This record gives sequence, C-alpha cells and structure tokens, in this order.
Amino acid sequence: MNPIDDILARLRGCLPQGEGPWPLHEPSFQGHEWAYVKDCLDSGWVSSVGAYVDRFESALSSYTGVAHAVATVNGTAALHIALLVAGVEPGDEVLVPALTFVATSNAIRYCQATPHFIAADESDLGPDPQALDAYLREILVEIDGQACNAFTGKPLRALVAMHSFGHPNRLDALAEICSRYGLTLVEDAAEALGTRYQGLHVGHWGRVAALSFNGNKIITTGGGGAVLTNDQDLARRARHLATTAKVAGHRELFHDETGFNYRMPNLNAALGLAQMEALNDLLRRKRMLAQRYQEAFVDCSDARFVEEPPDADSNYWLNTLLVGEGVRDALLDRAEKLGIQARPAWTLQHRLPMYRYCPSMEMTATERLAARIVNLPSSPNLVGED
Ligand SMILES: Cc1ncc(COP(=O)(O)O)c(C=O)c1O
Repeated sequence: MNPIDDILARLRGCLPQGEGPWPLHEPSFQGHEWAYVKDCLDSGWVSSVGAYVDRFESALSSYTGVAHAVATVNGTAALHIALLVAGVEPGDEVLVPALTFVATSNAIRYCQATPHFIAADESDLGPDPQALDAYLREILVEIDGQACNAFTGKPLRALVAMHSFGHPNRLDALAEICSRYGLTLVEDAAEALGTRYQGLHVGHWGRVAALSFNGNKIITTGGGGAVLTNDQDLARRARHLATTAKVAGHRELFHDETGFNYRMPNLNAALGLAQMEALNDLLRRKRMLAQRYQEAFVDCSDARFVEEPPDADSNYWLNTLLVGEGVRDALLDRAEKLGIQARPAWTLQHRLPMYRYCPSMEMTATERLAARIVNLPSSPNLVGED
C-alpha cells in the first residue's frame, strides 16, 4: 500500500464511525461550567476580583502540588510574568526551543531580551540535554561570575523548557545543566497541565512555570493562563506585577512600578474551576485515544506515533506522528479532504522574520524533524464513556 493510504487507513480506524469532521482539539463542557458561569453573572462578579479566581488558583495548586498559582489573562501573559520574576532583564539572552509556539519567543522579547534557539531531539521533541551541554561548553564564557555568550557578550540568564504537545522534557537533566551554568530554569508548560515527570507534575522543576487555558488546551477558561511557582516571594511578585503593581491600603490608586493588567477575570476562572473538576476524566479519555493511536501505528513502517518518554506520564495534549520525509504535506491535504483535522508543527522560530537573526544552535536536524511532524485529532470527545 502507498504510505499515505496506509497512514490514513490506520488514522480513520482510530476515529469514531460516521461523518467527520474530526477536529484537532475541541473543548469539552460536561460538568458545572454553566452553573458556575451563571453564578458569576447573577452575582455581578465578572471581572478580575472574585471568589472563583481564588478557588481556581487553589485547585491548580492542589492538583499540581506546586505551592502557588497566579491566574492570568492568557498563557503568553503568564510566560511574560514568569520570565520577569525569574530575573530576565533587558539585554539578556534566554535559551529557548526553536520548536515552539511563537508566544515563547515573544514573551522573551517583551522582557527586551533575545531568544537564543536550541535544537529538538526526535525522542521527546524537546532539547537533548547532552547536546545542549556540549553546545554551552562551546559558547559560554564567565564574565563577572555570570555565564555569557562568548560571541555576543550578552548574559545568558535562563533556559525555557517547553513540553511539546504535552510530552515533558528531560527536566532532571535540564535542571542540572541550569545549576551547573547558573541559568534559571523556566517551564513553558502551556501544553502540559496533567503531565508528570518522574512522578512530579511539570512546574516543579523550574523556578517558575506558565500554563495556558486557551480554547484548544486540555482545559479551557476561554482565554487564560497561570504562573506556577514553589517560591513564595516570586509568587507575591508575580501577583503584584500582574495586578498593575497596585499597592493595597491607599485611598487613591497607587502603583509602585510599571505593572501589567494581566489578572484572570472571575468569569473565566468560573469556567476554569468547572474544568479542573473534569480534568481527571479528560486525561483518562485522552490516554485512551493515545493508546488507540499507539496500537494502530505499532507496526507501521511509514509513521511513528510519539509515545510518552520513559519516566513520564504525558497528558497527550496533541497526539503526534512522525512521518517519512516528504510525506507530510500530501498527507495533510488528503486528511483535510476526509475531514480529519491534522496539522503540521509551527514554523521553527529561527525561520520567523523577526527572530531570523537571533543566536541559534545548528538546526539542520531540527528542521528535518519538524518537517515530519503531524498533529492528529486529539479531542477527549473522540472517546466515548467506555
Ligand atoms: C508552547 C506554548 N507556549 C505559550 C502558549 C501561549 O498561550 P496562550 O495562547 O494562552 O497565550 C501556547 C499556546 O497557545 C503554547 O502552545
């Protein structure tokens, strides 16, 4: 059989019977969403103060085990705040995967720092810690006790780990690299609520992490995000910065620095609380769907299903195939005609016009890898109650 026919036949067998389309990722509202949102409307507490924000933050913190959660208007805002409280300053460089959504690089630019792109490894689509370590040995010099890029002279301040499509990076090794070179580890966990590495929920390994609750994520608040940290001072500072740096106890509004209007409204948090109550069920369904895909592709010579890495429990946010070179575009065209909503990976960051001139690791292998990625329909609704 031709590879595309073979892949499509296997894919079709994993999806429910009947007519498509089968979307990439649809939200699922089957719990208290209507009731909690109505409660907000009835009470008039729709904006950024209200009990649902506190309850949603507590639910996030107790679910992940990370001590503090600060809910924000979206994941990009959470990342921006996370980088600021991690100490990223104008003129710094921040190591970040080239294989990520643009928000990760944008948030670095919002801090007036420069993204420094790192390569992706085929096993988990995250950085290969050994290759990263070798690269850092090559490019780092110490200036006044600070690791700097020998070629640009700029301080290398932080490393952003990004858990691609819900699969965690090798966080133990990345944390070790960060402590060896004096970098701060920040986790872009936008795609990874529900993902654990070595038994710990993501967000535990970095000094600070960011989640997203956009409409296509595993739970949604419409738009929304959160900063997670175990550090009480960082949490306090994140909350302050995200609340326009407003100082309590003043009759006239008083702000002690340039802050941001980034706090999540109560209305969105109401939706989020109901979604958190459903999270375990959503994760269960997503694992069942992933298992279907995994079994369907186990003996496929034309495509490999990306399984959770060893030592990890992935949320399987977007199920992913690695197809043969040159197969992806024709496969996506054929899938679209059948109503199977699949999509390619993002354009690699160093290929975007505004980031083309940023420092970067050698990207040939990452470019070949990215061109083989196909994300598959991954909605929890694709699995019934069975
Ligand atoms: C890796 C990654 N980082 C950041 C974001 C930004 O989140 P948001 O869309 O909530 O701003 C997203 C998702 O949208 C993402 O996938």
